[in-house]
Amino acid sequence: MHGRYRRLINRTLTPSMVKVMIPSVTRIADELIDSFIDKGQCDFIEAFAFPLPGLVIAEQIGLDSGEINTFKRWSDGMLAPAMGLLVDEASAKHYAEVEAEAQHYLANLFEERRANTSGDILSALLADSVDGDEPFTMAELQNLMDLLITGGYTTTADSIGNAMLLLLENPDQMELLRNDRSLLHNFADEALRHASSVQGLFRRATSDTELSGASIPANSILHTRYGSANWDTTVSAEPERFDITRGNASKHLSFSRGPHFCFGQPLAIQEMMTASGPFIESERLTSIETTD
Ligand code: HEM
Repeated sequence: MHGRYRRLINRTLTPSMVKVMIPSVTRIADELIDSFIDKGQCDFIEAFAFPLPGLVIAEQIGLDSGEINTFKRWSDGMLAPAMGLLVDEASAKHYAEVEAEAQHYLANLFEERRANTSGDILSALLADSVDGDEPFTMAELQNLMDLLITGGYTTTADSIGNAMLLLLENPDQMELLRNDRSLLHNFADEALRHASSVQGLFRRATSDTELSGASIPANSILHTRYGSANWDTTVSAEPERFDITRGNASKHLSFSRGPHFCFGQPLAIQEMMTASGPFIESERLTSIETTD
């Protein structure tokens, strides 16, 4: 079941498709910067890090930029169960209504797009079956969009924010990057290694097993800590040091490993690179205030 899902979605966000998306990611970043550049300051998270990945996915699924608030409402609604926000009947009803609104919108969108395909993620998802796999049903497509919206939005926004903060806290690394843009990709990976936006996820042990001397009975629920593994001293020397020239920076686990490895990895890295570029260049980036 999951194998079929992966075979079908793997063709929708390949590195070559992400390459085609670079101009639109750059345009979205430029438009966001234009909206605050004259003020000479901005709330980086609210005005830039959050809207950027939201607008990128929204555009890919056919929403126009004026509908970003609708998109944010859906994303918040879809994440509500995981964030523990279904605290009473009223909140459960509210988030169920938001989810239903998104699902109705998406169902109409799928029908429309079937008739008029373009080069976006949505069209690729609707394409006919490959290798004998059945194409996605409507319910599967709706679930998948939930996964794209929840998996690709806050994760990337948080990573853009973390990466910028790390640069500002480490001016020597900022200087290195200013002088050598070929380090951008490694910088994105090192930022993900140093401060992963997904610190860990739950897993259930399917059989009795042993890990580093600890026995784990079948059916145990484990929280696998990617963030902690990324600071493993047997893999990364001085892991607390933020070093954009680190040779094995890309060996981090922030996108997980195995069959569930993040399918959005090429897009996430590209968004982090595109998002940082203009700020690294800017002579006007002189100070930052952080709040909790
Ligand atoms: C820096 C940003 C991102 C981080 C840190 C991240 C992290 C992760 C992690 C840790 C997983 C594994 C989940 C698991 O093991 O159960 C995952 C899966 C996934 N991610 Fe990402 N992600 C990011 C960006 C994106 C983007 C941009 C998209 C899509 C637009 C995306 C879509 C997905 C999907 C669909 C899965 C599920 C894959 C599967 O279960 O087979 N992610 N991501």
